[in-house]
Amino acid sequence: MAMTPHVQPALWPDFEHTGPGTLAGRYLRSFWQPVYLSASLARGRAKPLKVFGEQFTIYRGEDGVARVVADRCLHRGTVLWTGTVEGTAIRCLYHGWKYNAGGQCVERPAERATPGHLQIRTYPTREWAGLVFCYLGEGEAPELPVLDTLSGDGELFVTAPMRPFNYFSQLENGLDEVHFNFVHRISRFAAQGMNAEIPQLACEETEYGLSRTSTRSGVVRRNHFLMPNANSAILFGAIRLVWRTPIDDHSHYSFTVDYFEGTAEQKRQWKAEQEKQFALIAEAQPAAQVAAAILRGELTLDDVVDHPDLLSVQDGVALKGQGVIANRQTEVLGQSDHQIVRMRRLWVEDMAAIAEGRPRRQWKWPRRLEMTTGLKQAETA
Ligand code: FES
Ligand SMILES: [Fe+2]
Repeated sequence: MAMTPHVQPALWPDFEHTGPGTLAGRYLRSFWQPVYLSASLARGRAKPLKVFGEQFTIYRGEDGVARVVADRCLHRGTVLWTGTVEGTAIRCLYHGWKYNAGGQCVERPAERATPGHLQIRTYPTREWAGLVFCYLGEGEAPELPVLDTLSGDGELFVTAPMRPFNYFSQLENGLDEVHFNFVHRISRFAAQGMNAEIPQLACEETEYGLSRTSTRSGVVRRNHFLMPNANSAILFGAIRLVWRTPIDDHSHYSFTVDYFEGTAEQKRQWKAEQEKQFALIAEAQPAAQVAAAILRGELTLDDVVDHPDLLSVQDGVALKGQGVIANRQTEVLGQSDHQIVRMRRLWVEDMAAIAEGRPRRQWKWPRRLEMTTGLKQAETA
């Protein structure tokens, strides 16, 4: 039987599964990844950490340094995050084995013999912009990319909403400016005039990923895709940098840093506004639940336009509507999807290198990102 002409052949590799041993998982692990909110990790506390389908223990030593180590104790395998932090070390709850900051077992209180060579895995961990980053890959960790654009004396507001669908759909959504006109047709974007017309899209490859533009009535909005899983844009007066980090194949965190520069009073007002909005979102029915009710046909998006997290509800409907894991093999892509296709191709080249044991391309994030809002001057105030 002849193939339907618009159906694409199976072109794409598996971007979606990122557990241990998967190709996309090995690829993402070859970069520093944000894994936790700095503010959620108190000094002297240990917590469970799940990313890329793997379980870890994260703790902040009494020296203030965040550390990521193995999930389980070597002795009889209980989880380490229920243990106690002692200085820079962690002690297992069950029989008191103690592991130092390097992961070496340094005490076994009920044993006569010294621990010898007993070692749990530890992972390079750093903090920047209110996030804990971890390197879960093989070999030596590369340099952590740090942007001057977010390192001035501006105000930071950092969140990590969990989304109950595959990270790659959310990553692609960040390269899909046309959806503003439809998914967000009633929204803060609409109030800014961002979806009065369908934008003209363009992008160019850079040493960090893609520089993207969308043009509406001659006004250019410029933002960036940073390899492999981050986007940056100016959003509602702040610079936003967001990473999509898989928790497992069915859910992910959007680690979101918003950075605002202004006078002391403007910064105070902006921060108060973010906190107020965050509190409203915390009190409301979670965006994922509202999206699920819409997907079940019980509500429509027009019924929930007053939800404080409306953008997340709207994206949640569209993206979970693609499936918890979207099927990319049967899509019918158009020219308006070309930024997504460019991004996938960059991934394909890197993943092929990893699969063949060749060095992948070394991406270089810039110190500064140049961006424009895409709003006419009067609307940016
Ligand atoms: S299981 Fe950790 S000390 Fe026994
Ligand atoms: Fe969106």
